[in-house]
Amino acid sequence: MLRTHTCGELRLADINKEVILSGWVQRVRNKGGLLWVDLRDRYGLTQLIFEEGDSSKELLEKAATLGREFVVQAKGLVIERTSKNDKIPTGEIEIKTKELTVLNPSKVPPFIIEDETDGGEDLRMKYRYLDLRRNVIREKLQLRHRMMQETRRYMDGQDFIEVETPVLIKSTPEGARDFVVPSRINPGEFYALPQSPQTFKQLLMVSGFDRYFQIVKCFRDEDLRADRQPEFTQIDCEMSFVEQEDILNTFEGLIGHLFSSVKKVDLGTVERMSYADAMTYYGNDKPDLRFDMRFAELNDLAQGKGFGIFDAAELVVGFCATGAGEYTRKQIDALTEWVKRPQIGAKGLVYVKCNGDGSFKSSVDKFYGQSDLQAWAERMDAKPGDLLLVLSGDVQSTRKQLSELRLKMGEELGLRDRNVFKPLWVLDFPLLEWDDESKRFHAMHHPFTSPKTEDLKLLETDPGNVRANAYDLVINGVEIGGGSIRIHDRGVQQTMFTHLGFSDEEAKDQFGFLMEAFEFGAPPHGGIAFGFDRLCAIFGGSDSIRDYIAFPKNNSGRDVMIDSPSAISSEQLKELNIALDKK
Ligand code: AMO
Repeated sequence: MLRTHTCGELRLADINKEVILSGWVQRVRNKGGLLWVDLRDRYGLTQLIFEEGDSSKELLEKAATLGREFVVQAKGLVIERTSKNDKIPTGEIEIKTKELTVLNPSKVPPFIIEDETDGGEDLRMKYRYLDLRRNVIREKLQLRHRMMQETRRYMDGQDFIEVETPVLIKSTPEGARDFVVPSRINPGEFYALPQSPQTFKQLLMVSGFDRYFQIVKCFRDEDLRADRQPEFTQIDCEMSFVEQEDILNTFEGLIGHLFSSVKKVDLGTVERMSYADAMTYYGNDKPDLRFDMRFAELNDLAQGKGFGIFDAAELVVGFCATGAGEYTRKQIDALTEWVKRPQIGAKGLVYVKCNGDGSFKSSVDKFYGQSDLQAWAERMDAKPGDLLLVLSGDVQSTRKQLSELRLKMGEELGLRDRNVFKPLWVLDFPLLEWDDESKRFHAMHHPFTSPKTEDLKLLETDPGNVRANAYDLVINGVEIGGGSIRIHDRGVQQTMFTHLGFSDEEAKDQFGFLMEAFEFGAPPHGGIAFGFDRLCAIFGGSDSIRDYIAFPKNNSGRDVMIDSPSAISSEQLKELNIALDKK
C-alpha cells in the first residue's frame, strides 16, 4: 500500500493514527535539527515533521536532501501541531515521520509550482503537465469535470440520448476551413474533421432518436483568439417535433441547472432580444447586459447644424457613460486615442459632459448650443454627472466602433463584474449574410437553418432581409451557443442551396445524403450547440478558454509540449500519396 490517506484528509480526529502518505514535495524548511516538508497531492497539503531526537540522524539527512517536486512516501504518526495554520484544512495536524522513501526524484522544475508562479505562458505550455500540478489550474479542470457530469445528468434526465458521431467525415459547412486527413487506402482522397456533428445529428432525428446530445470535439481551422481553439468542445443537441420556443425552454433549463448545481446561482429567466435590436441598441449581436449604456441615435438632433462630419455621416450615435462626467481632459483624450487606433478605426470622438449644475460642456460647442446638447442628453437618459460619447460614420462600422467603446467604458467603470451573470437569447438572426469577397450571400448560421415562414416571400426580392429561425445564447457578451430550427423538406433545402450559389450538382455531391434522407420521413426538428470551453470559462470567471482545456494549443495553433504540428517522414508522405512541392 503506497498510502493510507491522501494529503488533504487528515484532521485533529486522526491524532495518533499511523499513516502512510504519498505525494510531491512542495517545500522543505530546514532549521538544522528541525525540518518540515510540505507534501502535496491533488487533495491538499500535509506537513511532515522531522526532529532531532525523535528522528534518526539518517532520516533527518535524507529529508534534507529532498528537493521540490520529488515524489516521496512518508510513514508516521499524526500529531497535533504546536503552531497551527488556519489557512489549510490539514493545518491543525502534522506527521511525525518515521520512514521516508523517495519514490522518484525530480529535476528542479522550470517554474515555481504554486498558485502564483514565475513561469511565463510559453514555458508553462511547454511543461503543461507541471502547470497542471498547480491548484489554480487543476481547479479549472475540476470545474470542467463537474460541468460535464451535470450536463450529462440533466440531459439524461430529460430523455436525451448521447450518441457518438464519427470524426473522420467530410466537410461540414460551419463557415471555417476544415482540417483534413489523407486516406492511405483511397489515394488522393481526404477525410475532413467535423466542424460540428451538424448533419449527423439531423440524420439521427430522421432515425427517430427524438432527443440527441453529445459532448463532442469539433475542429475548425480559423484564426485563433482567447475564446477560440482549433479543437474545442460542444454540448451538441438536437430535438424532433419542436418549435423554437421548445428549444429555448429546454436549454434555459440546462443552463439554469448548470448555474444552480455548479455555481449555486439562480439564473432567473433569460432575457430575449431580436438581432435587429441588439445591433441598434448595442451595435453587436452579443451584447454584454451586465450594464446598460444603450445606444441612442442622434441623426435628427445632430445633423443640419453646421458640423460637417455629422452632416456627412450615415449614422450619428452615442451612449451615456453613467457617472463618467468627472472624466478629465486627459482621460477623454486617452479614449479618443483609443477609438482612433486601427483596431477600432474611428476618426474621432465627440463628448458631452453633463455638469452637476445642469449645464453641458462638449467638444463641439462651436456647433451646438446648450439646448441642442440638452436634447441629446434627454435622448440618452443622461443625468448631471454623466458623460455622453458620440461617434459617426457609416452604420455598420460606427455601431461596431461604439460597441467596442461601450465595452471599454463598462470595463473602466467597473461594470463587468465576473460574479454577475446576464444571459440573453438573441433571436431572429438574418438567414443570409452578404460576403463582399465572394460577392454572394452565405448562410449566417448554416445552410440547414429554416427561414421564417413569413419572410419566405422576400427570398427572391430582398434576400438580405429574410430572418431565420435561429438563436444564440449570450452570457456577459460571450456567444455561448447557437442553433436553429432546421429545414426538413427536400425541396426547401434544395432551394436554399440554390440561393447560396450551389449548383444542383454541387449540392448533390456535398449534401445529397441529407437531402435523400429528407425523402424518407424527416420529422420537423431543431437544435443548438453550446461552446463547452466558453461555458466553463464564464463559470470560472475567465476570458480565456485555454486554462479550461487540459492540453490547449497556442495562438499559432501549436501544441508546444508535443511539438505539433510537425513534419512527417517522406515514407509516410509517399504512403499517403502526398507529394510536397520542394520549392
Ligand atoms: P456554432 O458554429 O454557432 O454552431 O457553434 C456553437 C458554439 O460553439 C462555440 N465555438 C467555439 N468555441 C471555441 N473555439 C472555437 N473555435 C469555436 N467555434 C465555435 C461557440 C458557438 O456558439 N452546428 C451548429 C449548432 C446548431 O445549429 O445546432 C454550430 O456548430 O460558443
